[in-house]
Amino acid sequence: MSLDVTAVREDFPILAQEVYPGKPLVFLDSAASTQKPRQVIEAMNTLMTEDYSNVHRGVHLLSQRSTDIFEGCRAKVAAFMNAREHEIVFTKNATESINLVAQSWGRPNLGPSDEILVTELEHHANLVPWQLLCEQTGATLVVTKVLDDGALDLDDFRTKINSGNVRLFACAHVSNVLGTVLPLSILIPEARAAGALTLIDGSQGVTHRKVDMAALQPDFYVWTAHKLYGPTGLGLLYGREALLAAMPPWQGGGAMIASVSFQGTTFKPAPYKFEAGTPAIVEAAGLSAAIDWVDSLGIEAIAAHEAALVAATHEELAQIEGVTVYGTTPDKASVVSFLCDKAHAHDVGTLLDRAGIAIRVGHHCAEPLMHRFGQSSMARASFAAYNTLEEVKTLGAAVRAVQEFFA
Ligand code: ALA
Repeated sequence: MSLDVTAVREDFPILAQEVYPGKPLVFLDSAASTQKPRQVIEAMNTLMTEDYSNVHRGVHLLSQRSTDIFEGCRAKVAAFMNAREHEIVFTKNATESINLVAQSWGRPNLGPSDEILVTELEHHANLVPWQLLCEQTGATLVVTKVLDDGALDLDDFRTKINSGNVRLFACAHVSNVLGTVLPLSILIPEARAAGALTLIDGSQGVTHRKVDMAALQPDFYVWTAHKLYGPTGLGLLYGREALLAAMPPWQGGGAMIASVSFQGTTFKPAPYKFEAGTPAIVEAAGLSAAIDWVDSLGIEAIAAHEAALVAATHEELAQIEGVTVYGTTPDKASVVSFLCDKAHAHDVGTLLDRAGIAIRVGHHCAEPLMHRFGQSSMARASFAAYNTLEEVKTLGAAVRAVQEFFA
């Protein structure tokens, strides 16, 4: 079923504005963070105006209501990912989810003869925690190559995953720079056959593809609410039950304990032993509403709409002399990175902003990938359910104007 984009846009109050006189907002920076539908804003507002209290602690009614809403979000996330509730850990963002795995699973389990395999297209969030872990344990970070079109080099992956020393393979589901959708149904079983665990950074994945933990069978899958039309401050970690059960807590504090004395502490089972302190209660209400909103449209319908926008953007930019698009694999999700030969990416971003168009420019938190393509920065347009083909035309005209301006 195709999306009714006019109806979708009515759910986003922020989109109905002119950012400069005569310049309606064209928001093409959803890979950085999506805008929020009014259903999410209202759910958070309702919790705070009617039901709010701290969770898991009170015998009083408001605490029970808030706890039900908070734990209801865990159930909703589990259903959304086809996982079980006790396999869902709440964190503050995807970055924290990865650091949790690095410190809780990696630190006690890795040593100097072990390798962690990543790819050239990783976001810093799926790179720096492993570098820190390697410094702490003596393990080695190994990097799988990316081909010129942005696809993963499967031959290189197969050589490296089968070194005999790889204990963990960590990769993005979707590249935040190139849009490449990684072939998880190939990578995860091959990593498992080689004896490695898998961690998938799904920050850009859940927004554009159906994710099913029972079908994909990764060991860990992380994502963040704010890229799925939800609020900031709430991240998710899916972990396989047996792994979470064996992993020690990584942060101590209230809420995660079974019993505390001055002689020592015992801990709750997963996921609670990983959730020290007061969690993101209001944000959980928002994420539940965001998942309902996405489900009401259907992730496949959103993905099909975005694929049409990406194809139209490729076509539009291909007609402008001197513009190069990075990431041309057929299986590509909702981002288009490009460079203009006449203007630096930052100038492109500034001039597009004056035309009302919000894009991201810079290294996109993926400096090693920029260097792989011989660049220090790129301009990136990224799409969500609320973008239109007219906006793609506006982008094309603005990029053409940049090239003419600097000609
Ligand atoms: N990871 C986010 C992006 O790609 C911030 O823009």
